[in-house]
Amino acid sequence: MTVRNHLVGLLLGAEEDWPTAFEAIAAGLGVFDYQGRSHLLQTERVRISPFNLRDRARHDVVIDRLAYWYYHPREWLKKVALMDDVYLMNSPFTFQSMEKHAAYCALIRLGMKVPDTVLVPYKNPLDNVRWAYTARNYNDPFDLAEIAAEMGYPLFMKPFDGGGWRGVSRVDDVADLLSAYDQSGEMLMHLQKSVEPYDVFARALTIGPESMVMHFRPDEPMHNRYAVDHDFLSPSVGAEVTTIAQTVNAFFRWEFNSCEMLIQGDTVLPIDYANACPDVALTSLHYYFPWAMTALVRWSAFCAATDRRARLHVDTDPWFAVADDPELDYAAKLRAYQRLADEHFDTVRYREFCAAALPHLEEQVLAWVDSPAFDRMLVQTVVATYPEAEHERFVAHFRGLVGLWVSDAHGRHG
Ligand SMILES: Nc1ncnc2c1ncn2[C@@H]1O[C@H](COP(=O)(O)OP(=O)(O)O)[C@@H](O)[C@H]1O
Ligand SMILES: [Mg+2]
Repeated sequence: MTVRNHLVGLLLGAEEDWPTAFEAIAAGLGVFDYQGRSHLLQTERVRISPFNLRDRARHDVVIDRLAYWYYHPREWLKKVALMDDVYLMNSPFTFQSMEKHAAYCALIRLGMKVPDTVLVPYKNPLDNVRWAYTARNYNDPFDLAEIAAEMGYPLFMKPFDGGGWRGVSRVDDVADLLSAYDQSGEMLMHLQKSVEPYDVFARALTIGPESMVMHFRPDEPMHNRYAVDHDFLSPSVGAEVTTIAQTVNAFFRWEFNSCEMLIQGDTVLPIDYANACPDVALTSLHYYFPWAMTALVRWSAFCAATDRRARLHVDTDPWFAVADDPELDYAAKLRAYQRLADEHFDTVRYREFCAAALPHLEEQVLAWVDSPAFDRMLVQTVVATYPEAEHERFVAHFRGLVGLWVSDAHGRHG
């Protein structure tokens, strides 16, 4: 039987850990069979060079962690999506909606409990010769303190297109407000009602139809933000968190994204969920890293072997039909959104594919994570990430957390 080769391109920034993991797991997979055909995943790190728009890409799938800040490869992604049918996990055409603002709007329209949010005009004049005329003739004067007082303190002021906590301030009173606004300068800012106190911060990492809902502690240093905590949400809140994360992704055509939600009692409030191509570093995810790598390989294999067609543009109709249906309450809408997300991700077929074509993947990943090769990568990652005085401490820290995953996985596989 002939084997179909599928080339998976990795478009990378500074990271070495997860690409190494992805390459090792994909190589270990070898030839796999699905519905009478044999398949092989090959991997290659994408190079950046001039490209003719008529060149044909050799890749079947590309996983991107670079285009959110580097625009030459971003345009290459658009070209290969439009011209070569390369499967991309996040549509480059909805990257515009990667700013928080569009994602807030979409989720509010869908009836989610996004905290009250106002978009404030720029503090400093725009660097554009037309600004002065437009501002003089059309900008309404406004009283920021009055807007804030109406919303009620405490508030957060943060960029409309934020990421990595850049420019985020908590605003407790009018003095904080004015100083945060002064400092915003040329950044465009949201003012958002603070959700507090909240009981727990949940962060869902979603890859294709798989979501891992993790207990997140934003005040901890990076290596400690994800707690290893399996039952920190009630089953119904956990399901709601997963549905919200998968709704965002299916709506915007993102399949590799993280979604941050604050939980107050039984209420789930999404605050940040436009993080396409999120951080999946071993030093952030630790215990959850093997799951993330397994999911990335599984979803890539599924997309390649089933010739999944990327849907590049947002199709609002089916979502808004649910959102605007006066007969449906919030719980019924969530159920309908989950059905739409399952359809988008082809979730039933994906599960069937995983069981039929990749039955040994988890054991294979377990053997690799438990091997000296993984440990070498862990040590190299720590050495590359932390100052020398901290190496020993962090090697022990991450070995401990990965070891915990290994023993839990042994428990699952007997
Ligand atoms: N409305 C809010 N209520 C409570 N905390 C918030 C709110 N908005 C932001 N925060 C806090 O600020 C952090 C950064 O804000 P976020 O919107 O996630 O921006 P970024 O995209 O930079 O991560 C969050 O992780 C959370 O701890
Ligand atoms: Mg955030």
